[in-house]
Amino acid sequence: MQKDYNHSEGFIRDYSLYSYKEISSTNTVAKELSESGSAKGIVTALTQSGGRGRRERVWDSPEGGLWFSLFETVPDEDIRKLSFFMNFGIILAAINTMKQYLDSDTLKVKWPNDIYASGKKLGGVLLETFDGPSGKTVVSGMGLNTWNGSKENWTSLLDLGIKKVPNFEILEKLIMNLNILREKLYDSSEELMAGWEKYDLFSGKTVKVKSSQGNFEGTVKGYSSSGALIISASSGGIRTIETGEVENVR
Ligand code: BTN
Repeated sequence: MQKDYNHSEGFIRDYSLYSYKEISSTNTVAKELSESGSAKGIVTALTQSGGRGRRERVWDSPEGGLWFSLFETVPDEDIRKLSFFMNFGIILAAINTMKQYLDSDTLKVKWPNDIYASGKKLGGVLLETFDGPSGKTVVSGMGLNTWNGSKENWTSLLDLGIKKVPNFEILEKLIMNLNILREKLYDSSEELMAGWEKYDLFSGKTVKVKSSQGNFEGTVKGYSSSGALIISASSGGIRTIETGEVENVR
């Protein structure tokens, strides 16, 4: 890891906090910190020079947005449960946090890891797992467009006319909401997915899905307790899709 990062350290609830001015990617630095022995932490950056999105897309990360990664190392046998929670749980925690600023009816989740507001993308999660020195490490990186403007296909709190609050305040609320969900629902993935379905952008809609299992069109029926998308395929039969990209058709 570079040593000349302009950074500070502290705590936010039960996470060690590593805050940087500019780094390549909070996910990359989270991985490095876990490799050097930190067991559970949060990495934040004011800007990222190499912010990464899903499917190797670039994640534009100018100053103003909330860019952070949570990381945690657990024994191998706990990795599935933690990964599931660090994807679906953190998105629900973000929704619960955004409800304090935005009308809840305008907030949606887009499977598998996006947050929408008023029909446009407000944020997303990049989940990565690594073999660590004492188990497996989950890194859950979230980008939330707070005060960084907008573009044609995404929105931000600024764009939605919300009065500015510090990003750190939003992050603290989000971690508090995550801890609440963790206490209540960590052992109940069905209930967590039921919470997800309440905000689902696709519920009952006809969608097109691109996945490693193939490309399908069908109507969204719901989600399995492992977070897979269940569709009733137009070509017949029920499909359970573990991971993929979804596009709304009607
Ligand atoms: C996506 O929608 O494709 C996921 C975007 C995830 C972006 C965040 S910003 C903080 C963390 N660091 C990264 O490089 N990516 C994630």
